[in-house]
Amino acid sequence: MPPRIGVLASGRGSNFVAIAEAIRRGDLKAEIALLISDRKDAAALAKARELGIAAEHIPYSVKDREAFERAAGDRFDEAGCSLIILAGYMRLLTPYFVRRYPGRILNIHPSLLPSFRGLHAQKQALEFGVKIAGCTVHVVTEELDAGPILGQRAVPVLEDDTEDTLSARILEQEHRLYPEAIGRYLADGVGMGQGSVTAAGRLGQPDEG
Ligand code: GAR
Repeated sequence: MPPRIGVLASGRGSNFVAIAEAIRRGDLKAEIALLISDRKDAAALAKARELGIAAEHIPYSVKDREAFERAAGDRFDEAGCSLIILAGYMRLLTPYFVRRYPGRILNIHPSLLPSFRGLHAQKQALEFGVKIAGCTVHVVTEELDAGPILGQRAVPVLEDDTEDTLSARILEQEHRLYPEAIGRYLADGVGMGQGSVTAAGRLGQPDEG
């Protein structure tokens, strides 16, 4: 049985669609079991339904972040998900959720981490004046945008780039990087009970100190 993936998405959902297409082409051996959004109006929900993938909205309250995470985790577990993918999920995860799925949550971020963590990474890169930007897929830990890196793709910053043009060029690379990185992660068995991710981002055995 292919591993079952649960997706958390807040918006447009283009990375989710790129992953779904990679699965449909047979490039990624997995199945997306369920997409959950914290936003009722997220385009990702409609895109999932168009693709015949179960999609649910769960209301989010900043007063009780864990309530959303408990409900989402319960739905993912019921759907048999062994891996959680953040695809443009724009909420901070609490330690509760990260500990519920240790080493089993992946995120994509539109910068070459560890540079430009947090919101508006592409704008931060432009303002800093870097000449190379890009995107990163990493394992989620309790620290924001800081977990072991699974893959990166670089994008040149052009003289006349705006936040929009740079973001669009990075997004094209995100769509290639995310399915590739998930495939490598699954092939390595990281976090799937055969090993664990260490701080150095390599495969460690569970009994390793
Ligand atoms: C992507 O650029 C993704 O890297 C970014 O949001 C966008 C979502 O697009 N995520 C973050 O900034 C997370 N910190 P999508 O909804 O079309 O996949």
